[in-house]
Amino acid sequence: MTVHTDIDRSSIDRGTPEKTAVQTVTLEIDGFPVTVPAGTSIMRAASLAGIQVPKLCATDSLEAFGSCRLCLVEIAGRKGTPASCTTPAENGMKVSTQTDRVAKLRRGVMELYISDHPLDCLTCAANGDCELQDMAGAVGLRDVRYGYAGENHLGQAKDESNPYFTFDPSKCIVCSRCVRACEEVQGTFALTIDQRGFASHVSAGMNEDILDSECVSCGACVQACPTATLIEKSIIQHGTPERSVITTCAYCGVGCTFEAELQGDRVVRMTPYKDGKANHGHSCVKGRFAWGYATHKERIVKPMIRKSIKDPWREVSWDEAIAYTAAEFKRIQEKYGRGSIGGITSSRCTNEEVFVMQKMIRAAFHNNNVDTCARVCHSPTGYGLKTAFGTSAGTQDFDSVNDADVILVIGANPTDAHPVFASRMKHRLREGAKLIVIDPRAIDLVRTPHVEASYYLPLLPGTNVAMINALAHTIATEGLIDKEFVAKNCDEAEFKAWRAFVSKPENSPEAFAKVTGVPAKDIRAAARLYATGGNGAIYYGLGVTEHSQGSTMVLGMANLAMATGNLGRNGVGVNPLRGQNNVQGSCDMGSFPHEYSGYRHVSEEAPRKMFEKDWGVALDPEPGLRIPNMFDSALDGTFMGLYVQGEDIAQSDPNTHHVTSALSAMECIVVHDLFLNETAAYAHVFLPGASFLEKDGTFTNAERRIGRVRKAIPPMCGMAEWEVTMKLSAALGYPMHYNHPSEIMDEIARLTPTFAGVSYDKLDELGSVQWPCNEKAPEGTPVMHIGGFARGKGKFVLTEYVPTDERTGPRFPLLLTTGRILSQYNVGAQTRRTENNVWHDEDILEIHPHDAENRGISEGDRVALVSRAGDTSMRAHITERVQPGVVYTTFHHPESGANVITTDYSDWATNCPEYKVTAVEVRLTNRESRWQEDYAELQKRQRIETLAAE
Ligand code: SF4
Ligand code: SF4
Ligand code: SF4
Ligand code: FES
Repeated sequence: MTVHTDIDRSSIDRGTPEKTAVQTVTLEIDGFPVTVPAGTSIMRAASLAGIQVPKLCATDSLEAFGSCRLCLVEIAGRKGTPASCTTPAENGMKVSTQTDRVAKLRRGVMELYISDHPLDCLTCAANGDCELQDMAGAVGLRDVRYGYAGENHLGQAKDESNPYFTFDPSKCIVCSRCVRACEEVQGTFALTIDQRGFASHVSAGMNEDILDSECVSCGACVQACPTATLIEKSIIQHGTPERSVITTCAYCGVGCTFEAELQGDRVVRMTPYKDGKANHGHSCVKGRFAWGYATHKERIVKPMIRKSIKDPWREVSWDEAIAYTAAEFKRIQEKYGRGSIGGITSSRCTNEEVFVMQKMIRAAFHNNNVDTCARVCHSPTGYGLKTAFGTSAGTQDFDSVNDADVILVIGANPTDAHPVFASRMKHRLREGAKLIVIDPRAIDLVRTPHVEASYYLPLLPGTNVAMINALAHTIATEGLIDKEFVAKNCDEAEFKAWRAFVSKPENSPEAFAKVTGVPAKDIRAAARLYATGGNGAIYYGLGVTEHSQGSTMVLGMANLAMATGNLGRNGVGVNPLRGQNNVQGSCDMGSFPHEYSGYRHVSEEAPRKMFEKDWGVALDPEPGLRIPNMFDSALDGTFMGLYVQGEDIAQSDPNTHHVTSALSAMECIVVHDLFLNETAAYAHVFLPGASFLEKDGTFTNAERRIGRVRKAIPPMCGMAEWEVTMKLSAALGYPMHYNHPSEIMDEIARLTPTFAGVSYDKLDELGSVQWPCNEKAPEGTPVMHIGGFARGKGKFVLTEYVPTDERTGPRFPLLLTTGRILSQYNVGAQTRRTENNVWHDEDILEIHPHDAENRGISEGDRVALVSRAGDTSMRAHITERVQPGVVYTTFHHPESGANVITTDYSDWATNCPEYKVTAVEVRLTNRESRWQEDYAELQKRQRIETLAAE
């Protein structure tokens, strides 16, 4: 795998996609024999033989289209000059790609293109990176006989509406690559070729501006365009790149691989990497375009301290900041005891950074008070899947969806939150796989171009377990269990107990119809489809986990998959769509207070002794505090120091009043981040962080894929997080000695059986690997549990439905649920500092027309949103996406205070907060809430302090 390149254009575009047929054909091209899989085009076969046939409308990420006529060849014994991109190779063919006849034809075609193309190559932004230019050279075009006097397409107005790319129709050759990329790769169908013949042109929607169209700004069309018609504004502004570094996106859990393309130390383009195994050359708007935050003027690049949170910040040297933090933590431990400090690791940081952070807490703080933001998102996944199957992770790789026949999406919104995987999923659905969606809100997938769910079950928030039991009841009582799979792979007694439990009448779809709000016949039909439709694959998200029964629901889905035999091969499985880029990794690295890396309990003697020996320090055998326990202990006066690595708990954790009271009660809070986030308002030490472009390391995505993060530019603040942690640990009396993150990975591999075979050399060689990667699986494990479960026998667990304590009533008659939107990312710290705000610059409350009418609410009105925990306000959007009785909002903007109203209820097993169910009332208002006024005041104060510090 290429790691650093001088803009290596050598990743050859072979013109048409790879074919994987086992059967091969052998032909002769320009006298050279070549053998390829059946179905391969002549163009691709020629390319594999080292012969590049000129082309314009063909590219190997898209199916052949055959419109430009530049790739003509001659075939012995056949009349005419067929297009090599659309003609399949056949046994015994003799193909000539370079005859006088085809050369003349190609020049004629090029002449026509060039005669209607502005000849401004020297000042064109794509100069040197333009296929039209390359092809003019390749066909030997020397002059153009036709002038510009006749009708032409020159001088047409540019569409510059999209913040990241422009569309200049005067340069368009109508090759349709953009249209096909939008359809085949992205699956949005935003573009079309309008009209015919000379008048044909690329159109977004009904001849709208791109920004106003259905376009989701994924950039696939820009990447596919062979000319400067669709081109990045960053390239227009800065010119073409001169070097590139292959790295991993720092946004969501899909973990797309990118080429960061640079001029010196300036990133000018992020191009999704063709060989990236999670994304196969595709991306979404965040990864491809929303990287400007990394050099945003609000980045803090110098450490700061202050004695009290009422004082202004004071810029200090790294040495002073580290010494001050260490002294404060030591003072607090002396006064309040060993367990009075702790830390929260970041799912945005690298595996290596998380590993050294939890090591510092265990070895230098001498306690296990380490937790991670996974606590508030996917901790039930870890608990549930480990209990059922023996491994705290999803079962499949993303490519597995290509073999799914029935896709069951529960509590996830892939097109917004995991867009690149959603494109793959939509591709499979367009090929004919069936779709079932279970969600309180009609997500885009329910009906999107050429995709429609066979069943959409709009359940009420908080009734997931009732739904899964009703589905299981149908499967168990209608003879749809895969008895052979269960007998071979699962514990028999537990299975029998489960079958008896779900078969009870009180678990029937009819009994739960009223609870879930979904007609029994739809539940039954969906269950039958999942159980009998072929390979059934479950994909789920935070709509499953962030509930008081989050862990129960994960177990319920595991039961369903085992009962139907949908595990242990391609196309099936139980697949969490992880939120943050490294949430899987932060869990794997030992970020929980009860577990070391690889999910070994701290109370177990064998792993503890191993870590003690390796680290040369005695370790605490008692689990430490979880995040909610840290807050409670702070309010009790026993937990007084907290190190927060790359998280914004004041914005992201539920019940903001409770969180900020706890933060205010502590004596030393250290925030290690890129920006002064909401938590920093309560901090005493601010340590500047490094963005993903500024450091080396690894991220682990939702399919357990460990991918390299490579330093493209030096850290603006001088140090990566792992170096800062090492310094602090040394100041606390426990020095660590790493020269490079690869040495941290070597330690992780030494101490973590599922990572035993992982090294930077292997990652450089293979591109990425999926754990377990060890002696048994030296190149990693794409699909888990083949031939048996990691824990031995699969475990069925009874999943009784227990309604949440958060109930609606006369004062709070509506249920609020929350989610994400494509253009913004979680608390928005990164995306709010990019042009992505053009799509979503505030959080909006979605409300059903009936509920709006009952309250006199019109579109765009400001409404108060009130719960038992607090109140906030935002503007209303009236939509039938949500059902009557349910309202919905995103949580990307701190000033909307979505978590001011969420409650303290949490998952019984893991304390994952119940973000997805809050009883609320909504009413018209003309002012911000008290909390919002206080927040605005706090922001103002913080701005003044920052200015003072500057
Ligand atoms: S940016 Fe993506 S969604 Fe928009 S038109 Fe291009 S391919 Fe389609
Ligand atoms: S915009 Fe580019 S990709 Fe689309 S038809 Fe025109 S030249 Fe081809
Ligand atoms: S899908 Fe996720 S990982 Fe891929 S580019 Fe988008 S945000 Fe980045
Ligand atoms: S490349 Fe074959 S017809 Fe265009």
